[in-house]
Amino acid sequence: MKSITTEKNGTATFKIFRKDPSRDSEGRYDEFEVPVEEGMSVLDGVNYIVEHIDPTLSVRWNCKAARCGSCAAEINGYPKLMCKTHISDLPSQIKLDPMGAFPLVKDLVADVSSNFDIDRRIPGFSPRKTSEKPWVMYDIDVARSQEFRKCIECFLCQDVCHVVRDHSSKYIGPRHVVKAAALDMHPMDTADRSVLLTKEKGLGLCNVTKCCQEVCPEHIAITDNAIIPEKERAADKLYDPVLSLLDKFLNRTGKQGEK
Ligand code: SF4
Ligand code: F3S
Ligand code: FES
Repeated sequence: MKSITTEKNGTATFKIFRKDPSRDSEGRYDEFEVPVEEGMSVLDGVNYIVEHIDPTLSVRWNCKAARCGSCAAEINGYPKLMCKTHISDLPSQIKLDPMGAFPLVKDLVADVSSNFDIDRRIPGFSPRKTSEKPWVMYDIDVARSQEFRKCIECFLCQDVCHVVRDHSSKYIGPRHVVKAAALDMHPMDTADRSVLLTKEKGLGLCNVTKCCQEVCPEHIAITDNAIIPEKERAADKLYDPVLSLLDKFLNRTGKQGEK
């Protein structure tokens, strides 16, 4: 892949999806030539277009530092954060689309609000009653759920998942399994979400393709550390009577490092 600064006198061609659903029935692609400087991100290029060429182009961003997740889009067909993707790592033609798994607001802005509704329906943290103060947690328990708390809610994993795209009403999606796993693996938590995910939220539809963990900008091992353990946890609870009894006993006694 060539650096674009060595081509076409340091310009890149941005081909950007345009549609305002309140006015247009069809979408189109508009092309823009953008002068490129060293270190420019795709988001810098889009902001150049908004500032210098077409102020009607809609884009959402906040931090420019890969922290807020709001600039998520499909760059040359691949779900990425625009602020974290350097133009120099791309070919000189850059095609931008909004995340296709979600309804379109306008141009590059997708409506991800359904995720916040799903999030509210996942049972919250339910600590066991204890007089122990402060709570003592083993390092391994902290590390296990800490990984999932790095999520910046960009929803790129939801966007790339073919099951979410095909069965969004049936499968809750990888981001939300990460949230459930973070709670389920907390040693003070007494609730279980894995059975709910399996029986009502379509976890069984996930066929562990791992596309979600490939696109995660926080490098969360979504499939390996959240989805597969939640599937296994549900299988134990639903089909293994001995483990089910043991789990109830551990929850009652509050034994840590076992959850
Ligand atoms: Fe984004 Fe990763 Fe969180 Fe998914 S798990 S929403 S890809 S940060
Ligand atoms: Fe989808 Fe990830 Fe499963 S991409 S199919 S949730 S492993
Ligand atoms: Fe915040 Fe890109 S602008 S993640």
